[in-house]
Amino acid sequence: MAQGWFITFEGPEGGGKTSHLHALADYLRHHHVPVLVTREPGGTPLGQRLRDLILHPSEDDWVDRAEVFLFLADRAQHVARVLRPALARGQVILCDRYADSTLAYQGYGRGLPLDVLRTMITFATQGLTPHRTFLFDVPPEIGLRRRHASGQIDRLDAQTLAFHRRVRQGFLELARQEPERWIVIDATRPWDEVQRALRHYLARWFGLPEAGDTERKG
Ligand code: TYD
Repeated sequence: MAQGWFITFEGPEGGGKTSHLHALADYLRHHHVPVLVTREPGGTPLGQRLRDLILHPSEDDWVDRAEVFLFLADRAQHVARVLRPALARGQVILCDRYADSTLAYQGYGRGLPLDVLRTMITFATQGLTPHRTFLFDVPPEIGLRRRHASGQIDRLDAQTLAFHRRVRQGFLELARQEPERWIVIDATRPWDEVQRALRHYLARWFGLPEAGDTERKG
């Protein structure tokens, strides 16, 4: 493949996007597609330190405007050091969250102005936009319950239900605005069913067979 392909996985908490991403990476590798799995925040060594700062602030909570800069610092580093080089090598990138999370969480969720955020994102990414984005849509009541059941609680999970409702609606609105890029997945469906639906898209884009067991990871 001469040029890479950039696929992002987005959605509210507890939609299962990370386990689906890893299973899809296995599927692609099985068919000899060169894959790069990465995530935000934390896709570079410096980004990993930012991730710790963002998700586990030691004394004081970040104010909303400061938090944006941390996510964007992580992203700028990630784009320059990991994503663009991978695309230049012709890899297929599966990225767990990207710029749409900033619009959904900091914009729709926290209420920061979307036009300002868009400008900041363009600055940070130098305009790198995903080719396709999967939205793992799940109502916050279900997503948060799943997350609490798995014991993975972080600072952002502790926000109010109203915040998470705004985030979900934000993602759906973003998907409506750019239907050619987004694929909305009903993440309340059984895991195997969702994985089959995802593979169907990848099979089409990369000309692969769809057959083979779906195996849940993580
Ligand atoms: P993570 O543990 O990776 O959550 P998840 O498994 O749900 O992806 O934590 C990332 C958190 O950061 C998550 O709550 C979403 C949030 N986030 C933002 O608020 N803005 C952003 O730009 C990004 C990338 C993530």
